[in-house]
Amino acid sequence: MSASRFIAVCLATATMAGVCFAWFAHADAQSGDRQPDAGRGAVVAAQGTSAGVPACAQCHAFNGSSDGSGAFPRIAGQSSYYLGKELRDFASSVRANAVMTPIAKALSPGDAADVASYYAGVDSPFLPLPSADPALVARGEQLAKIGDAVRGLQSCDNCHGPGGAGEPPAIPYLAGQYEHYTAFELQMWRRGFRKNSPNEMAQIARRLDDQDIAAVAAYFQQVRESAQTPQAKESSR
Ligand code: HEC
Ligand code: HEC
Repeated sequence: MSASRFIAVCLATATMAGVCFAWFAHADAQSGDRQPDAGRGAVVAAQGTSAGVPACAQCHAFNGSSDGSGAFPRIAGQSSYYLGKELRDFASSVRANAVMTPIAKALSPGDAADVASYYAGVDSPFLPLPSADPALVARGEQLAKIGDAVRGLQSCDNCHGPGGAGEPPAIPYLAGQYEHYTAFELQMWRRGFRKNSPNEMAQIARRLDDQDIAAVAAYFQQVRESAQTPQAKESSR
């Protein structure tokens, strides 16, 4: 069975946990080269490391969909380039965060590359979430697709791709990301705690007011669901 197939089976069946960890530990022992190893990354995600890194799964879930609270971003299926870059940025405090900065500092470069590669390869479901105020979503959609010429704001989709689906490797998806998290990040750029992307996101976030931020965050949270479930829409008509 291939590594990715095995990981998919492990994700699907919680009862296989013991077998899965044994296999991951085996993969861990075998890896000597420095090609990112998703199997080793899965061990880090599930168990943390002996250097004191906690299991990522505590907050991001083993499948990377985190939880519906929005306190933790969904990380499943972001590119390994982007995930690895964010871990380096947390470690250097270019992106300062009280929770992630110490975790990223404690990860070795190899573990960071492996765990990024693992989460990049996970295709996990989007959790069902309560629907947002339609007027707020409509305003968010306008900013996302058209921007705001008066404020010199280009559309989010210009860089983040149609529907905010992401432009890997450098630009993350926003579609389906938790509203609370998206809004929080835009505030972090505005307030200078997130200093990566100084020429792109920092400039954009400064042009958005609180209402705009609430609107784009609400729009992107629900866009994936409406884009992905045409059958569900059909049947509700
Ligand atoms: C105790 C909870 C917790 C644990 C454990 C944790 N994280 Fe996080 N993670 C967070 C929080 C909170 C954020 C949001 C930080 C911010 O707002 O800048 C985050 C953000 C991230 C991001 C940025 C995602 C993005 O879209 O930019 C990455 C990547 C990440 N975590 C990876 C990991 C990895 C890999 C591990 C395990 C080695 C891990 N995290 C363990 C809480 C946690
Ligand atoms: C000029 C290109 C560009 C435009 C336009 C743009 N972005 Fe971004 N955005 C980026 C880049 C590049 C990153 C990755 C930054 C990094 O490396 O951490 C990013 C990251 C983000 C993140 C962080 C995602 C995460 O997982 O942490 C959010 C939130 C975001 N953008 C929201 C928006 C919104 C909302 C708009 C429209 C109002 C927008 N962006 C328009 C380039 C752009």
